[in-house]
Amino acid sequence: MAVQAAAMAALVLGAACSAAPRGDGDGEERTMAHDSHSHARPLEARVTRLELDLAVDFATKRLSGRASLAVEVQPGATQLVLDTRDLAIGAVTWSGAAPAAGGLAARTPLPFAMGSAQPDFGAPLTIELPAAGAEGAGARSLWIHVDYATSPSAAAVQWLSPEQTAGGKSPFLFTQSQAILARTWIPCQDTPGVRMTYGARITVKAPAGGPPLLALMSASNPQAARADGVYEFDMPQPIPSYLMALAVGDLGFASLGKECGVYAERPVLARAAAEFVDLPAMIDAAERLYGPYRFGRYDLLVLPPSFPFGGMENPRLTFATPTILAGDRSLVSLVAHELAHSWSGNLVTNATWNDFWLNEGFTVYFEHRIMEALFGTEFEEALAVLGRQDLEKTIEELSAGGHARDTHLRLALEGRNPDDGMTEIAYEKGARFLQVIERTVGRERFDAFLRRWFDGHAFTSRTTDDFLAFLDRELLAARPDWKTALQIGAWVDGPGLPSNCPQASSAALARASSAMERFVAGAPAASLDVATFTTQQWQHFLRQLPASATHAQLAELDAAFGLSARGNSEVLFAWLAQCVDHRYEPVLGALERFLTAQGRRKFLKPLYAALAKSEWGKPIAARIYAKARASYHAVARDTIDELLAWPK
Ligand code: BES
Ligand code: ZN
Repeated sequence: MAVQAAAMAALVLGAACSAAPRGDGDGEERTMAHDSHSHARPLEARVTRLELDLAVDFATKRLSGRASLAVEVQPGATQLVLDTRDLAIGAVTWSGAAPAAGGLAARTPLPFAMGSAQPDFGAPLTIELPAAGAEGAGARSLWIHVDYATSPSAAAVQWLSPEQTAGGKSPFLFTQSQAILARTWIPCQDTPGVRMTYGARITVKAPAGGPPLLALMSASNPQAARADGVYEFDMPQPIPSYLMALAVGDLGFASLGKECGVYAERPVLARAAAEFVDLPAMIDAAERLYGPYRFGRYDLLVLPPSFPFGGMENPRLTFATPTILAGDRSLVSLVAHELAHSWSGNLVTNATWNDFWLNEGFTVYFEHRIMEALFGTEFEEALAVLGRQDLEKTIEELSAGGHARDTHLRLALEGRNPDDGMTEIAYEKGARFLQVIERTVGRERFDAFLRRWFDGHAFTSRTTDDFLAFLDRELLAARPDWKTALQIGAWVDGPGLPSNCPQASSAALARASSAMERFVAGAPAASLDVATFTTQQWQHFLRQLPASATHAQLAELDAAFGLSARGNSEVLFAWLAQCVDHRYEPVLGALERFLTAQGRRKFLKPLYAALAKSEWGKPIAARIYAKARASYHAVARDTIDELLAWPK
């Protein structure tokens, strides 16, 4: 396989390159971790800056233009290998100087070859570098320019018709690059182990007669649309390719504080601004915990409902699903989560997708600390109990399905789509591991330690071993008793949950359980004390519904609490999931509306999977999916295609 061939070549050259390890500011010397999900060979030639010049054409559903890459080339290296997937490459040229505005720097053509394409991984673009001059022994720098266009079916990019937006009048475009989709819209070293700064010029050809469209990126952003459709962006902090992001649409902006605000389609903007009023307080809390926010502004972008994730931590501009606009701020922990990634993920990044828990486990831990700071321990405990339930379910499913290896924190995703590692293991098991350390060494000491981890490794990409070595040196060296108590090996390289996993409990959720127990024991739904139930109590209440519940009981719950008509996506989801498990047909209308009105994979996957389990559900899944499929983003579509064995 081409990936392996590239790895071999990197190994051969690695010996020479490991002589120049990159320092990380805390005395650790290292060489680069190998990333099996990228064709790139950054130990030979490494991209350090990207200048994008792209035109956005809604008529042809293509981005086209040029990616100029500043490359640092090691002595002896003769090639630059970039990741691509479904890109049409025009010319490849090089210059010694940066692309001047207007592209006037003299450029010389270079030979290049496209390798064979593999599903998910795409094809390596191998560029023959110009021969080295007599500059001397050190690394040399040059600019490589790739003229290219994306395919209308580029997996990162979703092109929405006006009907798929809230405004209904203008088309919309957004990208989702994590984990390895950046290569479907930018030729790049698509590995979290390589960081680059970037600049971009985006020219939007808006459809005639409509309003000018606003372009936004994971960079410095405009706050209003420009009549000429030309936008310039700068991202001065080095970031990995999976954080490259672009959105274009008829968007408005509302400020939420000094250096933060929210973008959304105009019909959604007021609701979004009201939902996120706590954003400045969240940023304050995060900075008090783990140090200054390093990226300048922090804004949110609320996307149309087909956005396949809850949130995506694109630097300076978190992308978010509109399904968290509950009207009562009850789902804003998602914002705390994406904000926390500004430290765990965007500042200190997982070096490979096998180290994904360094991003997500740290972030869930940090998210809970922010929520506790803002809303108190009761609220945090409720989130923890729900998270623990999700985690136990995931461990059961993975183990039963013969995938116990995927319940280790340190993953082994070689040859597989890194999406396979996006489970509750990285998130919830990862967070529990940090919680065990916190409880063992004490919160004050742990917070100081985490702050040193972020500060000492800022703007670098790190492996699980890097973290374990730091943990050993900074916290455990003097305390062998702590080290034994932690069971680090069982957490990181063992299955399931180690015996020292902290328990979660919540008095508020216990009240929801007892309400359900009373109902099951015969109390009328209308007599239950649910008047003050929070979103999380409703989720918990519904999750406790036993498999033995009858259709009459489901009907009673729906009549008493209007569950099928809930606007809160998490409550509606918990209800619909139970209805599917109980084959309760009166909700099929509500189920179809939910599955066609939004495309968040976390909601789609369990519902379609539950339907696909039975002969009763299969035709229902097929009927709804046939209608909904075209409106989903490729990330969600690929998952559901596989789940339903959908003919492509
Ligand atoms: N970075 C992730 C989303 C992601 C992970 C996209 C891997 C592609 C590959 C983001 O921070 C995230 O975790 N989102 C969660 C919400 C969060 C509150 C758990 C989601 O979208 O469900
Ligand atoms: Zn996350």
